[in-house]
Amino acid sequence: MFVNRSDSEQLNKIRQEVNKQASIDTIIDLCQSISQQVTDEQLPLTYAGILLASGQRIADSIRVLKLCVDRTFSHVLADYLVENQDFAPAAKAFQETTPYDVWTQTDLYKSQMTGTLKAIASFARKNPPPAANLCPTIIDIGSGNGILIVEIVKQILALYPLESIHIISIEQSPEMLAVTQKYCQESISIPVVFTPICCKIQEITTQQLEIIRQYHPIWFMNASLSLHHMPKEIKIPTMKMLAGLSAYCSISEAHYNHDLPEKDTPELIYSVTESYGFVIQDVLNSRASEIDKKLCIDNFLLTEAINILKNDRQNRGDYHALISEWEEIAEQGSWAVVEITPTVSLPERPFAFTMELKSKTLN
Ligand SMILES: C[S@@+](CC[C@H](N)C(=O)[O-])C[C@H]1O[C@@H](n2cnc3c(N)ncnc32)[C@H](O)[C@@H]1O
Repeated sequence: MFVNRSDSEQLNKIRQEVNKQASIDTIIDLCQSISQQVTDEQLPLTYAGILLASGQRIADSIRVLKLCVDRTFSHVLADYLVENQDFAPAAKAFQETTPYDVWTQTDLYKSQMTGTLKAIASFARKNPPPAANLCPTIIDIGSGNGILIVEIVKQILALYPLESIHIISIEQSPEMLAVTQKYCQESISIPVVFTPICCKIQEITTQQLEIIRQYHPIWFMNASLSLHHMPKEIKIPTMKMLAGLSAYCSISEAHYNHDLPEKDTPELIYSVTESYGFVIQDVLNSRASEIDKKLCIDNFLLTEAINILKNDRQNRGDYHALISEWEEIAEQGSWAVVEITPTVSLPERPFAFTMELKSKTLN
């Protein structure tokens, strides 16, 4: 997920030429000469293609991206630009559930979910529900289409014969929240008390917190692929606030470098194109229909990637961070890190992970 310093210096020469509005032939020549000197020989063309797209030089971007034959992200983005003639997201992420539903059927999502469920089962075995509480409360932050929280409850029921369960779902999208509520109530075999709280977790109000406090002690919180939607400086106070709500939290995240690097840097563009390229390839390999694949890629994955690449840091939308960054955020946010478990691993690094946390505020 890192570009070494010498590769970064080489790639920055391309940025200077693009900023100077150099001709496309000059840029391609420069990329081809730099490709001999960097670790990843197709990165210079990918890097130039993204910078050109960000500068709305769409025809030039398409020409360059089409030269990166082996890179999923480059050729998928080239096709998108040909069709849309604009480097702009096709949708607002999570406004409708279908693009996310398609992704939750992929092998990658299923592996990530299996890893998360194993980690939560291991936590639940060690930490039973609060004593004599036959309807324990759990909080799910950013529930998406609800598929994960339903599976979490099924895992818990395999361990403890609960009479009912109370789920507090904190989700910023009213559409996703409604789908989660319906799915929980239809798919869980015991009575479910469901408390929907529609807000961004970092903007939760005092009144909404009061509702949650009525149900203390909260057994645990789960935040899977949802806390990366804010920058590090907001993640830390948000984690501090969460440390006052429950003694335990499980977070699952992707090990990407999308928080600290500035716009247009080789580090950011490398991380976005590699990580989203990998996820997009998994969608392309899936058994979904061609229409569904396109919807998932255009309205969810490319939508997120374009927002990260095109906007200034404060408007990026997604701020996936590296494991070491999450460890620091947890510590500074009043949590002790109990265990980190990779959920999806690539040959040379983890791709996604879960982190079990214990509150330093509530003991
Ligand atoms: C990638 S999905 C994860 C869904 C589910 N947790 C899972 O693992 O399948 C992220 C979800 O978090 C929600 N979300 C994004 N930012 C949020 C925030 N700041 N607070 C609460 N929910 C958020 C999105 O609307 C979306 O439904």
